[in-house]
Amino acid sequence: MEFFNTHITPEAISAVTRTLETGWLSEGAQVRDFEAALSAELALVNPVLVNSGTSALHLALAIAGIGPGDEVILPAQTFVATGLAILMQSATPVFCDIDPRTGNIDPTAAEEKITSRTKAIIPVHWGGYPCELDEINTLARQYDLAVIEDAAHALGAQYRGQAIGRISRFTAFSFQAIKHLTTGDGGALCCTSPDDRDAAQTRRWFGIDRAASKQTILGERDYDIAELGFKYHMNDLAASLGRGNLVGFHSRLQRRQAIAARYRHGLESVPGITLMKNPEDRKHAYWIFTILVEDREGFIRKLASEGIPASVVHLRIDRNSIFRSITQDLRGQEAFERHQISLPCHNAICDVDIDHILNVICGGW
Ligand SMILES: Cc1ncc(COP(=O)(O)O)c(C=O)c1O
Repeated sequence: MEFFNTHITPEAISAVTRTLETGWLSEGAQVRDFEAALSAELALVNPVLVNSGTSALHLALAIAGIGPGDEVILPAQTFVATGLAILMQSATPVFCDIDPRTGNIDPTAAEEKITSRTKAIIPVHWGGYPCELDEINTLARQYDLAVIEDAAHALGAQYRGQAIGRISRFTAFSFQAIKHLTTGDGGALCCTSPDDRDAAQTRRWFGIDRAASKQTILGERDYDIAELGFKYHMNDLAASLGRGNLVGFHSRLQRRQAIAARYRHGLESVPGITLMKNPEDRKHAYWIFTILVEDREGFIRKLASEGIPASVVHLRIDRNSIFRSITQDLRGQEAFERHQISLPCHNAICDVDIDHILNVICGGW
């Protein structure tokens, strides 16, 4: 049994083959087609495809004008990419506490971290569970902050009836190999404002406006770069893989949610286990199924002895020396850090596997 799974559909294999046969591998029609499909099928607003989730986060920070001296609030419970993207703009990451029953940023703790230098906040949807976006966007309006959702784990999640990817000013998705939808490596930056979308489309490719810059008789485009751009665009090969993998996305997501429901039912009264919050107002994308356990190492060893993988997935990032962080007041983070563990929750897990996992856990550790 694997902890993660890479799902490639037959349609993706055919789509990639067709793209290879065209001989056009750079950014082109397949990228536009995949962007349109993400809007039509997953209700993402203005998705701009890029070559990774990290690029999407960095692009958002650059477009929001975050620079030296600016502070950006984020949870420590994430992957290093979230913090490194802030350093790429020479800004300062400010680590904020989380709710240990969700793994997500605590809006009250976030407000306490706001100073006159704070310019943005990055809520991370841990494991695919949507953050308190109403509270966070209210704070953002009050203190004039850019909200950049890190939705690397949350493709297909919903908050109060709205898809993640159409709520805050920016939302960054990852299509890396083991995510819900893969393009090998890739990502999307969703922008609620058309101006941000236009900036993302230009700045993902060196700052050149592909649509407006025409080829001249000299054989090169006519362009003027006004703002720093990056080589962050997605190519057509990756886009055709993503477009093909979109086939069946909703039923695969429902299957993850059904696996989680079975876990919740089977684990709700097991001593030593605390389930995460599960309110009715949002839909979890269940990239992973996180729980809190007592004697975590004993739990992991017991599962491993029965061939069942379990993982913390990411540890708090603020202790990496690059962040030079002196954060000490993260009590929710500390509680989560001691007890959090995730169980496999993907489309290669069958009901027999789930019964086995539940039986082993119910037998104690
Ligand atoms: C929370 C989080 N943010 C950002 C990223 C970066 O995404 P990518 O690997 O596509 O650059 C990841 C990657 O797993 C992640 O887990």
